[in-house]
Amino acid sequence: MNILLLGSGGREHALAWKMAASPLTDRLICAPGNAGMAREAECVALDLADHAALIAFCRANRIDLVVVGPEAPLCAGIVDDLEAAGIKAFGPTRAAARLEGSKGFTKDLCRANAIPTAAYKRFRSPDPTKAYVHKHGAPIVIKADGLAAGKGVVVAQDIAEAETAIDMMFGGSLGEAGAEVVVEEFLQGEEASFFALCDGETAIPLSTAQDHKRAFDGDVGPNTGGMGAYSPAPNIDPATSARVMAEIIEPTLRAMKTMGAPYKGVLYAGLMITTDGPKLIEYNVRFGDPECQVLMLRLMSDLVPALLASRDGMLKSFDLRWYPETALTVVMAAKGYPGNYARGSVIDGLDEAAAIDAVEIFHAGTKAEGSRILANGGRVLNVCALGGTVREAQARAYEAVARIRWPDGFCRHDIGWRAVTREK
Ligand code: AMP
Ligand code: GLY
Repeated sequence: MNILLLGSGGREHALAWKMAASPLTDRLICAPGNAGMAREAECVALDLADHAALIAFCRANRIDLVVVGPEAPLCAGIVDDLEAAGIKAFGPTRAAARLEGSKGFTKDLCRANAIPTAAYKRFRSPDPTKAYVHKHGAPIVIKADGLAAGKGVVVAQDIAEAETAIDMMFGGSLGEAGAEVVVEEFLQGEEASFFALCDGETAIPLSTAQDHKRAFDGDVGPNTGGMGAYSPAPNIDPATSARVMAEIIEPTLRAMKTMGAPYKGVLYAGLMITTDGPKLIEYNVRFGDPECQVLMLRLMSDLVPALLASRDGMLKSFDLRWYPETALTVVMAAKGYPGNYARGSVIDGLDEAAAIDAVEIFHAGTKAEGSRILANGGRVLNVCALGGTVREAQARAYEAVARIRWPDGFCRHDIGWRAVTREK
């Protein structure tokens, strides 16, 4: 098969690595890709927003399947347009991608189907929003309805912080995404990411992970796209997993089908594990980044037939196998991320780092210049390792990090701390 993979992050490098290993893959093309993906596949510079150009490329290159990594093209309807042109595409349609594209849509769906989630109310102007916040008190969570690249959620510790967030969102600094705001009850507990593969009708659990969203050690500093992750999540035991499927994922699939927008693709549930059981914080309509990197390291089965079965509605009797080991990834980012950072600094020592047993390095914002690898983004590298315990995976990953010579980069030094504490 000829496969086109859209995206250029660590998530897409991990997907490319896994798909390149499939006996079903004849030709793998990534658009736009990065320097690491260029070692697994051909990379081409295509504009993901130009659907007509993508369709023309797929026809010219006899693409059998398009795999979409990030959420923005999904919410823009790339799957609808490819499928309408007769090209198979993995991922949800625009209507189904509203599970990530509109927080209000998802909250209403939860309410209508008794899916456990935080209590909430939707608003379209600042004054009633503030009145509601005053009535309910802090801590309270303020969310922009639309896609806001990680900037749309404020967990306000006091009323003043909530009011500032409300003014910021309605003030237009998030654009259209902030035209509507959802105010939510603050949930107490420990978070986990749960992934399911869906075909419109059936969902099969993939695996679980925990992310580290804050920039610095000790879970402090600004929110990021994710500074490291491990899989499986130790706070999701088999009983909790069964509850997530029965109480959250399956009712969502049924509801989406009933409204004529059957959900296909990866459904990523951000969960809070509370004393009352798992509650949905939010849905994403794609793999997590960096969670995908650790999932792909643990996936024993071939990924390509699974993606095809999702697209073709054939997941009913599908079975995926996983390595029992823990996978852990440490993200290396450019100094200054998630704020301003410089591009173009040289990264050395990648081959020495990757030579360590059970270590895999996935690139994110990198580009090649001759034989050199240069930083070309905020999150730049994902240094991943497998281990018999979280502690062992962590030790291997940091041994690899120590071999990478990149003075302009930084990483957290405590990825996995929660799970390691549990193991002790
Ligand atoms: P994001 O993934 O950017 O939407 O970030 C959302 C983050 O905000 C989650 O990972 C939680 O840490 C936090 N959060 C969102 N909603 C709630 C809630 N209702 N209660 C507590 N924390 C929340
Ligand atoms: N790591 C969080 C996300 O992919 O949304």
